[in-house]
Amino acid sequence: MIAARTAASAAAVANAFAALRNHRDRVEAQNLRGLFAADPQRFARLSLEVDGLTLDYSKNRIDTAALVALLDLARTAGVEEHRAAMFAGEKINVSENRAVLHVALRAEAGESYVVDGKNVVEDVHEVLDAMTAFAEGVRSGAIAGTGGAFTDVVNIGIGGSDLGPAMVTRALSPYHDGPRLHFVSNVDGAHIHDTLAGLNPATTLFLVASKTFTTIETMTNAGTARRWIVDALGEAAVGAHFAAMSTAIAKVKAFGIDDESRIFGFWDWVGGRYSVWSAIGLPVMIAIGGANFRQFLAGAHAMDVHFRDAPLDRNLPVLLGLVGVWNRNVLGFPAKAVLPYDQRLERFAAYLQQLDMESNGKRVTLEGAPVPTATGPLVWGEPGTNGQHAFYQLLHQGTDVIPADFLVAANAHEPDDIHHRLLLANCLAQTEALMRGRTTDEARAELAAEGKSPSEVERLAPHKTFPGNRPTNTILYSRLDPFTLGRLIALYEHQVFVQGSIWGIDSFDQWGVELGKVLAMQILPMIEGTAGAENRDASTAGLIGAIAKLRS
Ligand code: F6P
Repeated sequence: MIAARTAASAAAVANAFAALRNHRDRVEAQNLRGLFAADPQRFARLSLEVDGLTLDYSKNRIDTAALVALLDLARTAGVEEHRAAMFAGEKINVSENRAVLHVALRAEAGESYVVDGKNVVEDVHEVLDAMTAFAEGVRSGAIAGTGGAFTDVVNIGIGGSDLGPAMVTRALSPYHDGPRLHFVSNVDGAHIHDTLAGLNPATTLFLVASKTFTTIETMTNAGTARRWIVDALGEAAVGAHFAAMSTAIAKVKAFGIDDESRIFGFWDWVGGRYSVWSAIGLPVMIAIGGANFRQFLAGAHAMDVHFRDAPLDRNLPVLLGLVGVWNRNVLGFPAKAVLPYDQRLERFAAYLQQLDMESNGKRVTLEGAPVPTATGPLVWGEPGTNGQHAFYQLLHQGTDVIPADFLVAANAHEPDDIHHRLLLANCLAQTEALMRGRTTDEARAELAAEGKSPSEVERLAPHKTFPGNRPTNTILYSRLDPFTLGRLIALYEHQVFVQGSIWGIDSFDQWGVELGKVLAMQILPMIEGTAGAENRDASTAGLIGAIAKLRS
């Protein structure tokens, strides 16, 4: 049972945070160069390899004594109790009174996760089997459109009903041997218009993905897709060209998808941003097949078992989470970059933005009091090496320090290995450069060696100086296969959990997205000209008026 933080336990957590700040001065007295020079065992001490997945956190401004204090904070904050409560199916999403059991979605048959007295693993596997039958039918052509086997599948969803399947499908493109996949999310009509251009309605399947089946973007896009099918093929074709994934089965039927073999359910204990493992993963399964999808689940399951059972100081998500707390709360860095050296992880940062920022972008505790510390950072990023030629300048020489996670596979899928050797070299070069920097004396020496005059050396040296001492994690694995991707995503899910537990917040609600939705529905009639804007603020009313003048 998760205990509410009492005044006494909140004070204990505050003391554990204060103890961390005592370590800061010692660690900050040296820079990373100095820390590496002083301890040849630093990598061995501050990295962890588990079954071929390595987290190197040694290039952070941290030492073993600070790490011990961070582990103490985790224990004091009740991370272990909170973790046990999640795995036990307790309603740790307190503001929505829901269990949080995405771990049950990747449980093996025969395992038990209980919600309200019911083992949900049987239901999970029943849906997985139904998804597999449907996905394999689509892949083989046994389940076809009115014009024959499906050549194109369009997933219509947004947020967690889009980002997970879109990111995973792209990441696992070497395993993609099913029909082409497309993802439509934005309510901007350009998205569905551009996606449908060039598709053949008679061989296109639509998957409408929405946990609630009320999300305006998804319902609007689904309506447009339905009209596109009806206009081309007639009303009778709708059944053959649509399927849906949702927790709201009655709403799916009301929309007009009523063949139960085309409705794939999930449950309120699956958060949208944690749902790629559920029926929401159907497009992934259609792309890569049921066997590969189960490998993806198995990878996440392996990380769940590790997170649940490994001691805190040998626990990958715990260590990743604690380093993040150090950077955020002790060193005060407000952002974190995610830099995969893998083109196929080009949507990974966008996926982690929702996972991390929707989960931990909170300002009150589970008890509703203001959080006494900073919470989740701004998460952003792009794949290397592209980012190196764009925003890395700021990472190296800007006035803010942005900690970064670098992700890279030792092996590529492609046979032409020169690309991958260069990719690896670049990845390591960047973390080394961020750590070491270049002193002004080193810059002077290099300029002199290039034959520059003494005055040129002095003029240019400040520009060529890099402060270094910029923190990074490196996450290394053998190859980006379905199992490894499952492990990676689950690693980050549990990192978010660890941090949310330490901050004492509800990582599983998302009330912050509601207000804008409500106001949009109030403003819509003003855009349509059926209501006046007198009750809005002057800026909003002014813009509504300006839009009315511009709309033809
Ligand atoms: O943006 C809020 C949100 O509720 C996300 O949490 C969710 O992933 C997304 O909207 C989509 O919701 P649904 O799957 O219910 O359409």
